[in-house]
Amino acid sequence: MTAPLWTIDALATAAAGTLDGVVADAITGFSIDTRSLGAGDVFVALKDQRDGHDFVSAAFKAGAVAALVSHAYVRQAGDGALIRVDDPLRALERIGIAARARLSPDARVFAVTGSVGKTGTKEMLQACLGRVGKTHAAVKSFNNHWGVPLTLARTPADVAYAVYEIGMNHAGEITPLTKMVRPHVAIVTTVEPVHLANFASIEGIADAKAEIFSGLESGGTAIINRDNPHRDRLCAAALAAGARVVTFGHHADADVRMIAADVRADGSRVDLALRHCTVAYDLSAPGAHIVQNSAAVVAALDVAGADLDQALPALAQASAPEGRGKRTTLAAPGSPILLIDESYNANPASMRAALTALGTVPREKFPRRIAVLGDMLELGATSEALHRGLCPAITAAEIDLVFACGPQMRHLFEAIPVPMRGAWAHDSAALEDKMLASLEGGCAVMIKGSLGSRMALLVKAIKDRFPGGT
Ligand SMILES: Nc1ncnc2c1ncn2[C@@H]1O[C@H](COP(=O)(O)OP(=O)(O)OP(=O)(O)O)[C@@H](O)[C@H]1O
Ligand SMILES: [Mg+2]
Repeated sequence: MTAPLWTIDALATAAAGTLDGVVADAITGFSIDTRSLGAGDVFVALKDQRDGHDFVSAAFKAGAVAALVSHAYVRQAGDGALIRVDDPLRALERIGIAARARLSPDARVFAVTGSVGKTGTKEMLQACLGRVGKTHAAVKSFNNHWGVPLTLARTPADVAYAVYEIGMNHAGEITPLTKMVRPHVAIVTTVEPVHLANFASIEGIADAKAEIFSGLESGGTAIINRDNPHRDRLCAAALAAGARVVTFGHHADADVRMIAADVRADGSRVDLALRHCTVAYDLSAPGAHIVQNSAAVVAALDVAGADLDQALPALAQASAPEGRGKRTTLAAPGSPILLIDESYNANPASMRAALTALGTVPREKFPRRIAVLGDMLELGATSEALHRGLCPAITAAEIDLVFACGPQMRHLFEAIPVPMRGAWAHDSAALEDKMLASLEGGCAVMIKGSLGSRMALLVKAIKDRFPGGT
């Protein structure tokens, strides 16, 4: 039997809470959402759009072994053990800090931030580390003020490696999170105009990302993209924080340097030069941006002393997740359709990357390239220019037809050559019929927009029209 994640007494102490009730079963996890809660979880009653205290009874019905609640919570019939605290979020943070403190001094802790590519990089790192030792990592994009402490709390005490994703929308948000994580290795994937509406300049974004270095353990390493225009700013911040700097990229001076990358529609073959060796590996997720992220992964593995020969084959098996480039081949009359689902989110950097990747789909198999694009949100005053600025990427990728929705994408739609214009609609639902009418066997169709643009509707519409994809 594996050891329980926490004993109830240790947990109550870490939470600075009072135990009210008796726990019969082992604690195996934490949950903040009764819809995904599993037996053995401790339910944490956070206040977000709804107050988690309204769901405590549902949590016990779903198999919770205990609930972390505020002192004021009134016990309901059917409730099990309660840990009463001043504020469940603050208590979760304390548990996260205690979870980090109990890791072995030999464990290596990684933190990943960046404007794009955090989750993809975290998942590649997790897959590689999983081949060389017991590894824990954040699920999904659990990277904010509750996602980071929740991931820490869920970390078993005996892991060899732990990987945390740290995100932000505003300056100052990363500092408290990186101080909880106390990474040995901190990666900044890239700095791009994302959440620009919340910043006066892109330099402000670079500075906010650089906050991650403030939590580095002494002797820790900052891993920085040598090809990014903001690298000097990031390097200066890392050095000021006392970090060692390791860079990755195409640049001749990069510590982990891309010598060659064969970027194909079904993945890539990559050759990298490190200071002391060269490595070659296959990536199953397609796209030059994935190659770039993988160089950061190799740098991090190397810094942590992981055996690269053992770890890197994991990259040949990691496919692009749902909404972030997942590819499905759908049966259609005549020949199949390739659906590339990028509906999870969008910003100028990831849009360009996705368009470039669509441009690598072989014409012999899929002769027509269709891009279905929704608004990129939160871009502030430069939004219109940033949307229109996608024109060259569309031309370079030789896209045949563009469907667009949303007021911002209208600027792009009106800027592209007339023969490329499929249709524009004010929102994704209104675009559905026009888009479906143009789909036929032999199309490669890529769907992308910010989450708020609800492009997943269109992914579903295509799957419903052409069922049975593989
Ligand atoms: N280095 C990169 N450059 C450009 N685009 C990228 C890069 N890495 C990933 N992407 C693209 O960005 C999108 C988001 O990827 P991912 O989910 O890994 O990012 P994230 O930083 O975790 O995002 P979030 O802030 O939503 O958690 C995907 O479409 C992905 O293909
Ligand atoms: Mg993410």
